[in-house]
Amino acid sequence: MTHLTGILTHQASTTAATVTGLLSDIANLGTDTVRGGYTRPVYSTAELDLREWFIQEANRRGLAVETDRNGSIWAWWDTPTKDRSNALVTGSHLDSVPGGGPFDGPLGVASALVAVDILKSRGTNPTRPLAVVVFPEEEGSRFGVACLGSRLMTGAIDPDKARNLRDPDGNTFADTAKANGLDPRFIGRDEVLLGQIGAFVELHVEQGRGLIGLDQPIAIASSILGHGRWRLSFHGQGNHAGTTLMADRHDPMIAASRTVVAIRDTAREQPHARATVGRLQPVPGGTNVIASRVDFWLDIRHPDDAVTAAVVESIHTQAQLIAAEEGCTVDLREESLSPTVHFDPALQKQLQKALPEAPILDTGAGHDAGVLSPHVPTAMIFVRNPSGVSHSPEEHVVDEDADTGAQALADALQALLV
Ligand code: GLV
Ligand code: MN
Ligand code: MN
Repeated sequence: MTHLTGILTHQASTTAATVTGLLSDIANLGTDTVRGGYTRPVYSTAELDLREWFIQEANRRGLAVETDRNGSIWAWWDTPTKDRSNALVTGSHLDSVPGGGPFDGPLGVASALVAVDILKSRGTNPTRPLAVVVFPEEEGSRFGVACLGSRLMTGAIDPDKARNLRDPDGNTFADTAKANGLDPRFIGRDEVLLGQIGAFVELHVEQGRGLIGLDQPIAIASSILGHGRWRLSFHGQGNHAGTTLMADRHDPMIAASRTVVAIRDTAREQPHARATVGRLQPVPGGTNVIASRVDFWLDIRHPDDAVTAAVVESIHTQAQLIAAEEGCTVDLREESLSPTVHFDPALQKQLQKALPEAPILDTGAGHDAGVLSPHVPTAMIFVRNPSGVSHSPEEHVVDEDADTGAQALADALQALLV
């Protein structure tokens, strides 16, 4: 936490926070010198420092900070009655993908803090409680399941399954949660907290090219593509790279590679489908070793959940045929599945009234807002990303748009607070 001392000194001397100022205060947390960008997996030193930064910023604003039993941090701006029902909640996440950009998650958190400042500077006296939330493990980069914090809170994942998730080093989520002050016996659906949320509005960097060319800095979300993650494990015969003739091999790397190409071809034939293999792991993983097993993770997205299921089925069949041709076997396991989300039409209308210039966009990226959506009225605001690139160091938001986003979030919250 040594770097945070500097943050405090700097912030104490500033008057009004800006989104850019807040993001520059955390710019050196979790930088990845190998991949570029940021690597901030949940409960890593970097993510813990970010959580601590958030708590300090919330305290500075006089918000009441609480960490719930699933590890989400809540910063409450209470009404005088301290009644927390029908709360208006905003926020996002602070964890990142490996080598991610600076805005995916932190933009929504920083904008929420600035929106609180703006509302306070306008003399707003909320008639309902307002909370800023930070959800853990939104990316699923460490334990494999995206939006783990919001899934646990809403009961979208079985707590036993969550407890037994393992990170790449073999640590269970239960042990990691315990090491970070949670009691893993009590993770899971939080009826009380869920019942307190009257509406959730998440601001997020736009992660594609949706706002480019529209001449607008922000948009309102309509929907999120359904998406899921599957793990394919190809089993073969581990052997010596020099002594094993090509004809004698049962090489799971070949089966896996051919399947990756088949996945690309299958997705290309399906309008609107997106299929990605972004992580592949040979076991044992030696230059002069034919692998005995290759695992890879498949990410598929499509607006029609039935099409997603059909694409997965087709890929599974093709993988089995390819594996057999290579003298290998394959098994496929679903790790997570999120149906297509259509955000609450009434809340969307309220946002459109507060932000009349903002176009309506759908997105292919997943969000905690999508997980909350079946349970509470939920909406999202996107901020323009001129690079059109995300999950990469090239993700970008210009300073002016970042502050316009915070103003828009404040306007939307204000409209909902009265
Ligand atoms: C998260 O950003 C995802 O869409 O995977
Ligand atoms: Mn995100
Ligand atoms: Mn992301």
